[in-house]
Amino acid sequence: MASFDVIILGAGPGGYVCAIRCAQLGLKVAVVEGRDTLGGTCLNIGCIPSKALLHASHMLHEAQENFEKMGLMTASPKVDWVRMQGYKDDVVGQNTKGVEFLFKKNKITWLKGWGSIPAAGQVKVGEEVHQAKSIVIATGSEPSSLPGVTVDETTVVTSTGALTLGKIPKTMVVIGAGVIGLEMGSVYARLGSEVTVVEYLDAITPGMDAEIARAFQRIMTRQGLTFVLGAAVQGVDVAKGGATVRWTLKKDNSAGSQKADVVLLATGRRPYTAGLGLEALGVEVLPRGHVKTDGHFATTVPGIYAIGDAIPGPMLAHKAEDEGMALAEILAGKAGHVNYGVIPGVIYTTPEVASVGATEDQLKAEGRAYKVGKFSFMGNARAKAVFQGDGFVKLLADKDTDRILGCHLIGPAAGDLIHEVCVAMEFGASAQDLALTCHAHPTFSEAMREAALACGDGAIHA
Ligand code: NAI
Repeated sequence: MASFDVIILGAGPGGYVCAIRCAQLGLKVAVVEGRDTLGGTCLNIGCIPSKALLHASHMLHEAQENFEKMGLMTASPKVDWVRMQGYKDDVVGQNTKGVEFLFKKNKITWLKGWGSIPAAGQVKVGEEVHQAKSIVIATGSEPSSLPGVTVDETTVVTSTGALTLGKIPKTMVVIGAGVIGLEMGSVYARLGSEVTVVEYLDAITPGMDAEIARAFQRIMTRQGLTFVLGAAVQGVDVAKGGATVRWTLKKDNSAGSQKADVVLLATGRRPYTAGLGLEALGVEVLPRGHVKTDGHFATTVPGIYAIGDAIPGPMLAHKAEDEGMALAEILAGKAGHVNYGVIPGVIYTTPEVASVGATEDQLKAEGRAYKVGKFSFMGNARAKAVFQGDGFVKLLADKDTDRILGCHLIGPAAGDLIHEVCVAMEFGASAQDLALTCHAHPTFSEAMREAALACGDGAIHA
């Protein structure tokens, strides 16, 4: 038995970042992790492996579509799926080992195994019970299930199985046009699969700015994805060599179905807190499975805290990281804080989609007076030079004060570009502040400035 200031359950982006910050602030910290490698869902079976496959499949697409246009007369590359998987595994390995290195560097103890909380102040791992002044639940999330759909991770897969398919399927049906469905759907579409995306709502990517969502759907359709919207999936029947997805269209109750080699279930994730013993402890859990916390990550039991996907809010690695850092600071007696109004969201397709702050629909619903500055990447020389003129930036600012309220864009490097608006919003900047900031030419970032200019006297290249 050992005793610590803090024991964190889960070594995902929330847990491992919390641990590092706790150690930096002088606390004695341990992390319980039952997986063989650190980094949680994100590094092992989520963000990182999917980005490797997105990159590889994007390169293939570039070679097939654009190489000859640039005078690169190489024959179109062939896909060696086993090697592509090897590349992906190598990327994952480098990152998980990196976290292990950071644990050693910061003298963080890794308690290997699955943990539970027998009582406040105690964490049980295997047969051993360890003591801690504070316990942090950072156990993340798992894919949600859907009635009538049985996942076997071979024919009917979640994002986990979609990363390790035995071969590239000829046909794939994706259930859910959210982030996972579109990222993984676009990977397989680029690798040659015929991909159909079945979505319950009448638009893709719920919560996204409606204008961006429409443009995104058009671009994805051009890239070969087929969408069936407004369709409630009734079930999936697995037969030898594939599965059939059945749905009813909400508009007229008509039935539809589609057979495919592989079905990807991507209808959301739910908090993963099974086996921790929360009920016996009296830690309150909300109806959708999230741990209830106050504004400072404290659960209903003193000394037990929760962060990341296990608590309400967007299920994003960077939101969990920020909560991990803020909580570490609170536990060290400082004032940790997360600004939930400035958490960016990114979809890593090509082009990328990114957003931060309010959407136009939200501003309308709130009855706020706002102005919109838009700029198309067609007017951006750098984007055109690399065949990425598709897409646009949309900046929303207060009509009277010019303060930036939100930004939504679809286009090259959108996931990086969004951060200049995040910084601007953290500083309470106006659109004019952004417009008066010199942006290097030729860069994609000029499109951000042009959108800011469009909030005022007008963009230059529009
Ligand atoms: P999601 O919440 O993004 O999308 C789920 C979609 O499934 C929604 O469009 C929903 O309307 C639809 N749906 C629900 N029930 C359905 C039904 N019965 N039939 C048809 N469609 C149905 O969830 P997703 O894509 O599974 O991702 C899970 C979580 O992981 C999300 O919170 C997401 O933010 C996070 N994630 C983030 C990534 C990123 O930041 N790039 C990448 C991958 C995941």
